[in-house]
Amino acid sequence: MYRKQTIGTLFIIAVITLSATVSEKFNNSVKPEPIPPSQQQQGNAAKGYEYLITGNYVSSGFPYRFYRIIAGKDKENFLKRTGKNSTVPFGFNVIKNEQGIDMVVPNCLQCHAQVFDKQLYVGLGNSFIDFSNTKKQNTILTNTTFQILKSIAPKQFEGSKTIVQSFNAIYPDLQTEVRGVNAADRLAMLLVAHRNPITLQWSDSTILDIPKEVIPTDAPAWWLLKKKNAMFYTGFGRGDFGKFLMLSNILTVKDTTEAAEVYKHFADVLAYIQSINPPKYPKPINKDLANEGELLFTTKCSKCHGTYGKESTYPNLLIPEKIIGTDSSLYKSNQQNPQFIEWFNKSWFATSYHPAKLVPYNGYIAPPLDGVWITAPYFHNGSVPTLEGVLNSKKRPTYWSRDFRKPSYNYVEVGWNYTNHKKKGGKKIYNTTLPGYGNYGHNFGDNLSEEDRKAIIEYLKSL
Ligand code: HEC
Ligand code: HEC
Repeated sequence: MYRKQTIGTLFIIAVITLSATVSEKFNNSVKPEPIPPSQQQQGNAAKGYEYLITGNYVSSGFPYRFYRIIAGKDKENFLKRTGKNSTVPFGFNVIKNEQGIDMVVPNCLQCHAQVFDKQLYVGLGNSFIDFSNTKKQNTILTNTTFQILKSIAPKQFEGSKTIVQSFNAIYPDLQTEVRGVNAADRLAMLLVAHRNPITLQWSDSTILDIPKEVIPTDAPAWWLLKKKNAMFYTGFGRGDFGKFLMLSNILTVKDTTEAAEVYKHFADVLAYIQSINPPKYPKPINKDLANEGELLFTTKCSKCHGTYGKESTYPNLLIPEKIIGTDSSLYKSNQQNPQFIEWFNKSWFATSYHPAKLVPYNGYIAPPLDGVWITAPYFHNGSVPTLEGVLNSKKRPTYWSRDFRKPSYNYVEVGWNYTNHKKKGGKKIYNTTLPGYGNYGHNFGDNLSEEDRKAIIEYLKSL
């Protein structure tokens, strides 16, 4: 029922989002820190959506003519698109390039949409994505079929040059240890290492020294952004969100003229992202139990996660490492890679109109919990398969797997049905003993009674 990841084929995703880096001052605070709001652009949501699913923010890809021969026609057309776009999977757009040739290019939905129970949810992080095999997949770009096609139709493939160049440079270094986690932060870091911060122009040699580790993350649901004063799990994306939203563009961008052209659409994209509402829990909810849960939640959880319902509040807090205690690799990579923060903060993204800025922090943002029932697995690294596990650290499996082909959801414990394993076992078994993949910390539910925990979970279903 879930579509096979289209990504494995031909060429991959584009993209970006960041994370990682270093702070000028090591932040050792032990108190949650409120994030101040920053001014955002206003835009048109309908236009933003149209641009997301048809636009050319990634400008190089695979020629449509050959794509159709190799991949066939997408039968689902989940997005109900028209024309050539209706024939490719939702994770790709068909655009006309400068030579007037139709190209299939990856779009944001590669990572920010997921089929759940036969329906496509745009904005839901794609927890099926597979970055666990990129060392092998990279050969597809240089393999014989690609070479033969290129020699038959050099004009058609002229427009593939940029994306092939990017992928050749970075793809083998993106590999994660297991399937189901995202390497977009890594992708961003590797790409900027090849680009001049001021002109954004590409160079084959790297200008930054990037450490080896690939730190895995989940992808946050888009409908949370309307409440947040900062982007990303570490809350380090400040200032103008549009500049971050457009980052996929650095996969193929030529120069700042193109970047400025693309940026024009991102006030609209932001408006679209802010217009998305979380999906409703589809099964009956026990109202009395949920009301009990709400009381408990208000006393034990709201100071970090806010309140919900008509008069909702959200405190926008960064929670320092000493309090949150979850896997530290993601925020620590901030400390270890100051060069990435520096690149960004002196780049076109930070110095042109509507500046964006990276402000690193040792800890994580306490996320809004709207629609949390559908966003499993949980925590910034997707290490915990159910809400039951989030609220009871003893129940978190050390080695676990879920069925990626026939996924099944657990509406009681709320999250993925999973198999517990005794030991590690390759890319299909999540291994929480690896650095970056840890499932510890956030022990705020451990002292609850079984009944209270059930009540809170019942309440969380209603958000
Ligand atoms: C290769 C996968 C990938 C692609 C493609 C991608 N993103 Fe992301 N995105 C991520 C990941 C992973 C994160 C979380 C990174 C982190 O916080 O460290 C993220 C974070 C975000 C966030 C932050 C949400 C929050 O609440 O903090 C937004 C908004 C976003 N992406 C929008 C976009 C848009 C718009 C595009 C296309 C132009 C896009 N992304 C393309 C993987 C991707
Ligand atoms: C001191 C602040 C704090 C308190 C108190 C707190 N949380 Fe959290 N919570 C966080 C932070 C920070 C994260 C993100 C941790 C990470 O991803 O590493 C988080 C993550 C979560 C998540 C996972 C969200 C996701 O999409 O991955 C859930 C669910 C959650 N908390 C529920 C609760 C509940 C229920 C309570 C009350 C019993 C609670 N939290 C108490 C700070 C807090």
